[in-house]
Amino acid sequence: MLTAKGSSEEETHLKMPRISIFGLGYVGTVYAAGFASKNIEVIGFDIDEKKLKLLASGISPIYEPGLSELVKDCVHKDLLKTFSTAEDAVLNSDVTFITVGTPSNSDGSIDLKYITETSRVIGEVLKKKDRWHLVTVKSTVIPGTTEKVVKKIVEAASGKIAYKHFGLGVNPEFLREGSAVEDFMTPDRIVIGVSDEKSKVELERIYSGFSCPKLVTNIRTAELIKYVNNAFLAAKVSFINMIANLCQKIPNCDVTAVAEGIGLDKRIGKHFLRAGAGWGGSCWLKDLNALNNFARKNGLTLPLIDATLQVNDMQPFVMVELARQLIGSLSNRRVVVLGLAFKPNTDDMREAISIKIVNMLLNEGAEVKVYDPAAISNAKEIFRDSVNYASSANDCIRNADCALIVTEWDEFKSLKPEDFVRHMRIPAVVDGRRIFIPQAFSSKLRFAAIGLGANEYFNPALAVNAMIVSDSEKILLVRRTIEPFNGLWSLPGGFVEYDETVEEALTREVEEETGLKIRPKQIFDVFSHPLRSPVKHVVTICYLADVLGGSLKSSNESLEARFFSASEIPTRLAFDHHEIVEKYMKLQREYWKTC
Ligand code: UDX
Repeated sequence: MLTAKGSSEEETHLKMPRISIFGLGYVGTVYAAGFASKNIEVIGFDIDEKKLKLLASGISPIYEPGLSELVKDCVHKDLLKTFSTAEDAVLNSDVTFITVGTPSNSDGSIDLKYITETSRVIGEVLKKKDRWHLVTVKSTVIPGTTEKVVKKIVEAASGKIAYKHFGLGVNPEFLREGSAVEDFMTPDRIVIGVSDEKSKVELERIYSGFSCPKLVTNIRTAELIKYVNNAFLAAKVSFINMIANLCQKIPNCDVTAVAEGIGLDKRIGKHFLRAGAGWGGSCWLKDLNALNNFARKNGLTLPLIDATLQVNDMQPFVMVELARQLIGSLSNRRVVVLGLAFKPNTDDMREAISIKIVNMLLNEGAEVKVYDPAAISNAKEIFRDSVNYASSANDCIRNADCALIVTEWDEFKSLKPEDFVRHMRIPAVVDGRRIFIPQAFSSKLRFAAIGLGANEYFNPALAVNAMIVSDSEKILLVRRTIEPFNGLWSLPGGFVEYDETVEEALTREVEEETGLKIRPKQIFDVFSHPLRSPVKHVVTICYLADVLGGSLKSSNESLEARFFSASEIPTRLAFDHHEIVEKYMKLQREYWKTC
């Protein structure tokens, strides 16, 4: 294995080969414009005439930050051209990069139909070309594909011999969506897979203007590096997601601090340790499945890849469970999803985790509304009329019972707890991307987040605050003596799963017995505590009653109720209240043993 030197004066002054790029999708367009911006003559080719026409008129066929300007400038300078035939593209260039798609077959294996067709077309043109030409595979292909498929097809179609009449190379890309131009301009490294010196020299010349490390390997190793790169990144994200699920079980534990703690170890590194609702995108799932399939064909299993996929499959369930913990059954509840694209700054919904989450919510019987700053039109293709679509984040959360943050768009980061409190019917938020500060949110509304352990001492004010719309609003607190809790404070219905009938019955009863007028949902919001467990719920009410002490007016020997203003309700559970909570918890535990 050789490590080539970085750029030097001498190298950058060498004459640049002319490049043709076959496949003007996401990778091809970025490379076409990128190479052209480095003063290399580039010809773009695609079988899709629409893409060719767009590019010819200086318009990028895909959206990527900074790409439109680059395409326009390079077309204007005549460095980036298009030809409408493959023949013209190959005959007018020295190197052809294959950048066509490599989708998945139903068994996870890689579908090579575009690779084989492109190789055949290039081979047929090479038959007519009397000069040496370099064919380079940039598409992600399983080890052995370039030598066993591309080389053979080009040789058969051209009647020429690889490494003698034409060169062969593999040059994987590592572009991220949303920062592809930046990744092109400042790559971490460039991988060049070759078997012959001439191809190596040609590819090194093309990349002579880049100062990053350049790794030269054989062809199969270069093909494998791309898969292993994606597999490792996916494993890193799944690893922290797995730890996030553990953190949720540990009171007061937060995965973001854990990630920071391990990320500072240089051997681990801080990148790709953001825990969340799960990873998506067009590459990882396809590539991990292809790698697994390839390993199996070679009589091997890859348990860490299986586990990486398995953890990712779990994350949508974790999100839905957190929503359930906040508001109970999701059936007939208005649940909203903020963020649909597989990551921010793109409209791409391929393999987006939001698809699984939305489908699960629908299966739970929830009424689902969605919003994304860019992906709504793609989402409509997927969800059709099974969900409602919002035109803004605030429109989405209006009158909702629970909001799930699924993509970390900047627009959502600026939402304040008050926005949710003001707009939602029940202000309950599940932060699936860790964009909100837990302390700021959990003191004002029902809040759960991926990788956030429950507060050891739950905040009784949460249950009440969940319905505080403004400071002038009042909260009804009810004291009722129930047999098993004689002498304790509790709410009727405290041990039953909430449903509308309980609320109606309770409302009627309290109104009749106290003469107070109760706003719809007022009672429900008090007693449907975020920490769903009836034990904690009753402790909350008991605790509140104790803290507010004897101020309830008795109208009946078994029921007392009074409205409290927001300022009368404590917003934080101080540490010295721990004993009170413990006292009630103990009594509750004893009660449950008798059930
Ligand atoms: C990825 C690779 O990074 C790139 O090198 C390859 O060429 C194509 O696949 P991309 O699909 O654009 O690029 O997305 P990337 O930014 O890598 O993120 C992938 C997924 O992981 C996204 O869903 C993202 O939200 C998620 N992710 C990423 C996390 O959940 N946590 C992290 O810390 C990082």
